[in-house]
Amino acid sequence: MYEDFGEILINGGNRGLGLGFVKQLLSQAPQKIFATYRSAETAKELLELATNNPRVLIPILADSTCEEDVSNVAKMVSQETNKLDLVINCVGYLHNAEHGPEKSLRQINANQLLESAKMNALPTLLLAKYFQKLLKHDQPSVFSAISA
Ligand SMILES: NC(=O)c1ccc[n+]([C@@H]2O[C@H](COP(=O)([O-])OP(=O)(O)OC[C@H]3O[C@@H](n4cnc5c(N)ncnc54)[C@H](OP(=O)(O)O)[C@@H]3O)[C@@H](O)[C@H]2O)c1
Repeated sequence: MYEDFGEILINGGNRGLGLGFVKQLLSQAPQKIFATYRSAETAKELLELATNNPRVLIPILADSTCEEDVSNVAKMVSQETNKLDLVINCVGYLHNAEHGPEKSLRQINANQLLESAKMNALPTLLLAKYFQKLLKHDQPSVFSAISA
């Protein structure tokens, strides 16, 4: 299946599932993988992979909860290609250090809920907004989001 995808964007490709997708897809000889990361600190392995796969793996610094960043990523990708076959959003979280997954209404916290929506819903919507043009072409394309 992966061999059908020549040009790919992995959002949040620096660690976890995103980095796993990058590694798996790299082994299928794609034309290009664009992979976003928001800090070099958490992207050492991705950046090393990019150094070892020049012109194929293109890391892009961006925070995908920021609309301006997502718009800029789309502009950068558009300079390299006129289409994408696969977009996977891997940015998201189930819980963080301050807040676990809610198991009852008593645990709902408004600020945490808004923060969760920002991180778990916003990136997918922004990616859909800014990448729909590159995904519309005469071959099948896939837009997907990994989420809890
Ligand atoms: N792993 C699993 O088994 C599993 C199972 C089911 C569902 N999921 C869901 O799949 C998604 C990815 O899981 P994962 O295990 O790969 O997670 P992960 O290793 O924690 O990676 C999370 C990604 O989100 C980014 N991120 C975190 N906080 C952010 C913020 N405030 N703004 C922008 N980006 C931010 C991280 O960037 P930084 O490195 O810069 O923080 C990283 O790229 C999550 O929604 C998770 O809940 C995971």
